[in-house]
Amino acid sequence: MPKLQIINVNFPIDEVSFDSGNPELNDFFFKDAIDYLRESYAQIYIIKENHNSIIIGYIAISCGVVKFSEEMAIKKKLRNIPGLLVGRLAVDNKFQRKGYGLDLIKKAVNVAKKISIDVGCRLLIVDAKTTLKSISFYRKYKFKFIEPISGKRIFEELKNGEKPKKTPVKMFFDLHQIMK
Ligand SMILES: CC(C)(COP(=O)(O)OP(=O)(O)OC[C@H]1O[C@@H](n2cnc3c(N)ncnc32)[C@H](O)[C@@H]1OP(=O)(O)O)[C@@H](O)C(=O)NCCC(=O)NCCS
Repeated sequence: MPKLQIINVNFPIDEVSFDSGNPELNDFFFKDAIDYLRESYAQIYIIKENHNSIIIGYIAISCGVVKFSEEMAIKKKLRNIPGLLVGRLAVDNKFQRKGYGLDLIKKAVNVAKKISIDVGCRLLIVDAKTTLKSISFYRKYKFKFIEPISGKRIFEELKNGEKPKKTPVKMFFDLHQIMK
């Protein structure tokens, strides 16, 4: 039975296997994750089966803020909106499209809801990779583009099989969608 758990600096990263198909996200996990924990740059949650060393997926979360344009700001007077930053998120190739990505997002939402009791935290923020997989995933789970016009253009380009110039694309999930 896969278990979602937080990891610490003693996690035996060299003894597990993980391949999301994205070299940058694999490298982060194997080369940088423990340093990020040590430096308090992120907390990292993994999904792992108990009886083997296969990592199904991981998410790295941190504090963040995002600047909206004046017309997109939720309230006109504040354009820098605080939130929880989904710094990295990936699921192993063999386990994709089974809902594990959603499980990791739900974890981030729960952490953000908890934080927001003590500290202002309105959004989940992500710098989404400009791939069809990544943008489709965040859109499916109600993330919106921070710059809607260019975001939608990029999504159309991806659907047409083109390679967008801009990477990554900032997206957000408004916690008030589920908290009010
Ligand atoms: C994006 C990613 C995290 C999604 O994880 P997942 O466990 O497959 O996600 P879920 O099963 O919860 O959601 C599946 C949804 O994601 C999107 N998706 C996943 N794979 C897709 C693909 N190959 N093509 C298009 N959309 C895809 C779809 O919206 C899909 O819903 P559907 O199956 O109803 O069409 C995973 O594909 C991944 O790790 N990709 C490589 C790394 C990456 O892009 N990370 C995000 C970068 S910020």
